[in-house]
Parts: sequence; C-alpha cells; structure tokens
Amino acid sequence: MDQMEGLSADSIKGSRSSDEEKCGRYNKYIVGFLYILYFFPLMALLATLKDPVGAAAQKSQEDVISPGLGGVSAPALQAPALPHLPRTRRKRYTLTPGQLKWDHFNLTYRIVSFPRNLINESDTRKGLAAAFRMWSNVSPFNFKEVPPNSASDLEIGFYSINHTDCLESLIHHCFDGTTGELAHAFFPKNGEIHFDDHEYWILGNTRFSWKKGVWLTDLVHVAAHEIGHALGLMHSLNSNALMHINATLTGKKTISQDDIWGIHRLYGCTDRLFVCPSWARKGFCETRRKLMKKHCPSSCDFCYEFPFPTVVPTPPPLRTKTKIVPEGRNVTFRCGQKIIHKKGKVYWYKDKELLEYSYPGYLALNDDHMSIIANAINEGTYTCIVKKRQRILTTYSWRIRVKN
Ligand SMILES: *[C@@H]1O[C@H](CO)[C@@H](O)[C@H](O)[C@H]1NC(C)=O
Ligand SMILES: *[C@@H]1O[C@H](CO)[C@@H](O)[C@H](O)[C@H]1NC(C)=O
Ligand SMILES: *[C@@H]1O[C@H](CO)[C@@H](O)[C@H](O)[C@H]1NC(C)=O
Ligand SMILES: *[C@@H]1O[C@H](CO)[C@@H](O)[C@H](O)[C@H]1NC(C)=O
Ligand SMILES: *[C@@H]1O[C@H](CO)[C@@H](O)[C@H](O)[C@H]1NC(C)=O
Repeated sequence: MDQMEGLSADSIKGSRSSDEEKCGRYNKYIVGFLYILYFFPLMALLATLKDPVGAAAQKSQEDVISPGLGGVSAPALQAPALPHLPRTRRKRYTLTPGQLKWDHFNLTYRIVSFPRNLINESDTRKGLAAAFRMWSNVSPFNFKEVPPNSASDLEIGFYSINHTDCLESLIHHCFDGTTGELAHAFFPKNGEIHFDDHEYWILGNTRFSWKKGVWLTDLVHVAAHEIGHALGLMHSLNSNALMHINATLTGKKTISQDDIWGIHRLYGCTDRLFVCPSWARKGFCETRRKLMKKHCPSSCDFCYEFPFPTVVPTPPPLRTKTKIVPEGRNVTFRCGQKIIHKKGKVYWYKDKELLEYSYPGYLALNDDHMSIIANAINEGTYTCIVKKRQRILTTYSWRIRVKN
C-alpha cells in the first residue's frame, strides 16, 4: 500500500481580484510539508518566498527531515542551499519585505466553505474562533465572523485540489490532495486563508489514527499559524515561535514572545485607549493583565514582557507514564499480567481510539501486551483497559514520544 500523508503548508499572495492593491505586488509563501510514504514518515519542509514581478527579492527555502524509521532517505526532495539570511535576523520573527500590514484592527472574516472530513460546521467555527482569539488576546486586533455573503477583510475556505484561481495563477498553487500541503494564506491586505479539504481536520492534537489510517490535523494550530501570515508575519527563525516553519511538526502552538515582538514591530506596541495611564496607576496591569496586555501594553511596560501561554497544556490522563524512546525501537506495553487470573478482557486504545488490528512491522496487539515501533505515526498515548463484563478492573496509559 502506497500511502502519502502530510502536514502543513502555507503560501501567500498579495492580491485578490477584488482588491485595490497595486498590481504587481505578489508574495507567495509556502510552509511545512510532511509526507508519509508507505508508512515511512518522511517529513519535508518547504518554504518559498517569491516576488515574480519585482523578481529582485526572490528567495526559496526547502528542508527535508526524516523522523521515521532509521535510515530512510528522502527521495526527490533534495534541498537546495539555504538562502543567506542576514545575521540580525537570526532567531527572530520575520516581516514581509514590504512590511505588508493591515490599516485597521477590527478585522472581519467569513467562512465560505467547510471541511468535508471529520469536524462539522460548528466545530470548525469554534476552532477558527479559538485561533483568532489567540491573536486578539495579545494584539490590538479584534476578529468578527460575518455571514458568507457579506464583504469581509479575511476570507476562509476549505478547498479541493483545483480551487479559486490556482490553475491560472503563477503565484497561487493548487492543493495536492490528502496529505502534503495542509493550508496556505496570503499576506495583507489580501486576507485569504485556504485549507486543504482533503485533510482530516480535528480539534485537538495532531496525531496519526490507526483506525482511520490517516493523520488527524489540529485545525486550531494550523489556523493560528496561517492567521499569523494573514496578519503579515513570515516564518520566524525562533524555534519556539508559532510562526516557526517547523511549528506544526514540533507542536509549538502557543503564541510566543517572539511572535508578539513581530506583531509589535509591525503594528506598534502602543496603548489603544486614552485611559490606559490611569488604569495602570490603579494597578490594573497586575490585576487585569489580559485586558491590559491587549489595550495598554505600553503603560504597563508589557512591550517586552514574556507572555503567558495562550493555551493551557492538557494534563495527561491519570496513571500515565511518559516514555521518550529512540526512533525505531520496539516498545512493549504490558497490562493485564496481575489481573489475568481474574479473567478480565484487555482493550487497547491509541489516543482514545480502540485498536482492533495489528499492523505488521508497526503495531502488534496481544491480549496482555502490545508493542509498537517508535516512529512519528506511532507517537501518542496508549491505554489499556481491563474489563470484566461492564466492570473496569484496571487501566494504564503510556505516552510515547520519539527522541529525535
Ligand atoms: C525543521 O526541522 C528539521 C528536522 O528537525 C530540521 O532539519 C530543519 O533544519 C528545521 N528547519 C528549520 C528552519 O529550523
Ligand atoms: C473598523 O474601524 C474603522 C475605523 O477604525 C471603521 O471605518 C470601520 O467601519 C470598522 N469596521 C467594522 C466592520 O466595524
Ligand atoms: C458537531 O460535532 C460535535 C463533536 O462531534 C458535536 O458535539 C456537536 O453537537 C456537533 N454539532 C452539530 C451542529 O452537529
Ligand atoms: C478548476 O476550478 C475552476 C473553478 O475554481 C473551474 O472553473 C475550472 O473549470 C476547473 N478546472 C478543472 C480542469 O477542473
Ligand atoms: C516487537 O517485538 C516482539 C517480540 O519481542 C514481537 O512480537 C513484536 O511483533 C514486535 N513488534 C512489532 C510492532 O514488530
């Protein structure tokens, strides 16, 4: 079975037909790719920035990584040399060369189509709203959804391979079907964000589902990264940043200080309300931090403060052991040994999905134990539940992370 799976990509162009933007200002930006070939997780990351009209500023960047089984190479995805990056830009956020940005902070968005796979419309709305909230919590922006037929600043859609103008456009490429590229977005003031409708979108951590045989992709994470592009941020070189090229692979899903610095640099770190100094004197900087961070960062001296995380990490289930294992290792979990004499039945789960079959070479199910080969698709939480009729006799969980 030949299977291609993928994660994350974004691209940006600078002009929508209805936009009064100066013609000729095009930017395209493509981000991370993750390919799984034949169940070998090959991850390829690709970023390009093109300016086909003013061809002076042309840069492209491609990375290939293979976190899967040892020794797998990355055919046909050879990386050209990394572009020469100015020293001052090291480990920092990056703005577009033209410092493209919005001229107002009350942005509206409309959702013109919804995903066909997995999440329904209300969960899609919820996920997108959560991603917008991450940015509005730490910036002067407010985002409001408007009906799909009204005018809006931002336009979000889930699209098939051939979508909008991708066949004719030099700067807007088509999607690649299931896997590969996940989404792309365009720099201001275009406002379009396109998600690949062949992906399997979920609310929750990106993970591989053995039951469905596909990657389930965290909409909030990908959307937050794309919104960053839509606000004018390019990839950051800071590995903790949400806007880092590898953020979808490394799970950096909170807005970091670096991302905030980028927004401040682009839009200014200034008070938004005239009452800010007086609120600051009343001590609101401490007692009403979130509000002040958004509206009064200057009076509170928050401009360079380290941000609190915008997403609280979810605690692992009770009795979970975390194991960090080298790639390729055969890991065995034992569950029912002590209670086998009680004749309970053992059920195995991965990320809360019941596992029903073995996948030779990847995952072997047995009654009282199971084993996996440690690789990217097998990362996740494994749980055994021992039941006797309806009664749960015992349960254990193991969280497996692969050491890179
Ligand atoms: C992305 O991750 C891969 C694998 O960890 C690494 O080889 C590559 O250099 C990273 N890219 C950047 C820009 O850090
Ligand atoms: C956003 O604010 C601008 C002025 O700051 C105003 O002209 C515009 O009507 C507002 N738009 C919305 C959708 O509220
Ligand atoms: C959408 O899906 C969620 C989760 O599966 C469910 O709780 C919710 O009721 C669904 N909403 C609608 C309108 O179907
Ligand atoms: C591609 O999609 C456009 C509309 O988005 C449509 O007009 C065109 O016929 C499609 N082309 C092909 C080859 O499917
Ligand atoms: C791991 O090793 C055990 C024997 O030690 C074997 O039964 C199992 O099939 C192996 N697991 C996988 C996923 O190959």
